[in-house]
Amino acid sequence: MHNDIKHILFTEEQIQNRIGELGARIAQDYADKNPLVICVLKGAVLFMSDLVKRIEVPLEMDFMAISSYGVSTKSSGVVRILKDLETGVEGRHVLIVEDIVDTGLTLSYLRDSLLRRDAASVRIVTLFNKPSGRKIEITPDYSGFEVPDEFIVGYGLDYAEKYRNLPYVGVLKPEIYS
Ligand code: PRP
Ligand code: MN
Ligand code: MG
Repeated sequence: MHNDIKHILFTEEQIQNRIGELGARIAQDYADKNPLVICVLKGAVLFMSDLVKRIEVPLEMDFMAISSYGVSTKSSGVVRILKDLETGVEGRHVLIVEDIVDTGLTLSYLRDSLLRRDAASVRIVTLFNKPSGRKIEITPDYSGFEVPDEFIVGYGLDYAEKYRNLPYVGVLKPEIYS
């Protein structure tokens, strides 16, 4: 285990098993819809690449980079698009892939923006959900795990751009960010 991690919340095996379950459900719901699966960079990149392998129906992928945190453990509340989609979403069934929903600001901004571009439907899959953090009401359509009100890192989730490459998710030692 990485020295900056206080304890592990979800092991690599738990994460991969849950992704298999989510992928199977999504495949049932999107058979024959050729969904446009959108990865929200950078945090969702590991989840995206494991999830799409478990959605065994035709789909397309695109990527969007959005940032609201910067070098902080708190959301700035200001959502910025750093890289936009290459695919038109008009008439498409869109599935947004996120690593975590905390305040909900990132996803509510993104969902509204895709609906304004006339997507046929917009659903959200998140690996982690932190309902206690919400500042705006948003409920993911598919969610892997509920997480406590602690700052977690790993499997895509960063603190100041570090720890994204850990294959598990853990709680950061408080002395690392205080
Ligand atoms: C994190 C995380 C989600 C978002 C969730 O991204 O990956 O995208 O914040 O927080 P919210 O529900 O409070 O909006 P971040 O802005 O840190 O960018 P990153 O994915 O590049 O790390
Ligand atoms: Mn993110
Ligand atoms: Mg981040």
